[in-house]
Amino acid sequence: DKAGHKHFMAKEIAEQPRVIGEALSHYLKGDTITLPGDGIDFTAYDRLTFVACGTAYYACLTAKYWFETLARIPVEVDIASEFRYREPPIPARTAALFVSQSGETADTLAALRYCEGKAATILSVLNATESSMARESDVVLPIHAGPEIGVASTKAFSCQLTVLLLLALEAARQRGEIDAARMAEILPKLRALPAVFGNAIDGADQTRAVSQELAESRDVLYLGRGLMYPLALEGALKLKELSYLHAEAYASGELKHGPIALIDSHVPVVVMAPRDALFEKTVSNMQEVMARGGRVLLISDAEGIAAAGDGVWRSIEMPKVDPLLAPILYALPAQLLSYHTAIAKGTDVDQPRNLAKSVTVE
Ligand code: M6R
Repeated sequence: DKAGHKHFMAKEIAEQPRVIGEALSHYLKGDTITLPGDGIDFTAYDRLTFVACGTAYYACLTAKYWFETLARIPVEVDIASEFRYREPPIPARTAALFVSQSGETADTLAALRYCEGKAATILSVLNATESSMARESDVVLPIHAGPEIGVASTKAFSCQLTVLLLLALEAARQRGEIDAARMAEILPKLRALPAVFGNAIDGADQTRAVSQELAESRDVLYLGRGLMYPLALEGALKLKELSYLHAEAYASGELKHGPIALIDSHVPVVVMAPRDALFEKTVSNMQEVMARGGRVLLISDAEGIAAAGDGVWRSIEMPKVDPLLAPILYALPAQLLSYHTAIAKGTDVDQPRNLAKSVTVE
C-alpha cells in the first residue's frame, strides 16, 4: 500500500519524520539513552569494528565520525565482502557492529559469523529483527523504520543514523568524554529533528526542478567533507541505483588529487556542505570547480548559501541544524535528487534494473 504516493520510495521518504521519531522514542527516555536488554558497556572495549554493505556501509562511515569525535574510541569500518575474505585479526576488547536493513545480506552475515568467538561482543543495528543476524547477535538494536519496500534504502538509512548517533552519545557518556552541558544541548535538538525533517520535506520542491537538469547529464560528482563525505557517497549511490546516471563521490579535499581533471561545464558537482567548521574549506573546493567552468549544485543552509556567493549554479536550502545532526537531515536531498532524476529519466523507481532488495547471494 503506497498510502496515496506514486511509489513506495516516495512513501518511505515521507515517513521519515515519523519513523525517526519512533526510533528516538525507543531509545531516549527523558534525558537518558536506554539500550535494549542489559545494555552495552562501552568502557569494556578498546575499539569498534563496523561492517555492512551499500547504504548501510555509509551509515557506518558516518557513525565512525560520531564515535571517534564524541566517544574517542577508535573505529574501523569495512565493506562486508572485503572484511570477510581478508580474515582480519580481531583484538580482544573489540566490539563488532553490523548494520543491515534486512538482517539477511549474505556478506554481512558471513562477516558476523567470522567474528563469532573472536570479538568480545556482536552488536547489530537492524530493521528486520526476525532475521539471521538478529538471531546470531549478542545485542540487537532495532531501528524501528517499519517495512521498507522500495529497493533504494531511504528511511532505513535515516533511522540507522539516528540509532547510531544515540549509541555514540551513550558511548561518550559512559566513557566520560561528553560533558553534561553538551548532552543537555544535543538531546532536545535530536528530539526536535523529526519536525525539522518534516519542514525540510515541505520545502523540498527545489529538488524537482534541478533534477530535470541533472537528468540531462552523463556524469555527476558529489563532494562532502567530514560528516558530509559519507552523505556524498550515499547521494552518488542513490543516483546511480535509481537513475542509471554515472555518479561518483569524493571527499572534497581529494578533488585536486585527481578527479578535478573531470570538471567541465557538462559535469554537475553536487556539494553537500552545511555551514559548519569545515565550510570554508569546502568553499575553496567549490571555487576550484567553478574556476574550471564546473556547475556547482550547493546543498546547504541559508547562511552557507549566502556565504558561497554568486557563481553557484543551483542551490538547495536546508534548515539550519546542529552540525552533529546534519547527516540525518541531508539524507533527504540525497534521496529526493535521485528520486526526481529517476522520474525524469523514466526508470523504475521502486524496482531498479539488476537490483534486489535483499542481497542474499555472495
Ligand atoms: O539489507 P541491507 O541493509 O544489509 O542491504 C545492504 C545493501 O544491499 C543496501 O543498502 C543497498 O545498497 C541499497 N539498495 C541502497 O539503496
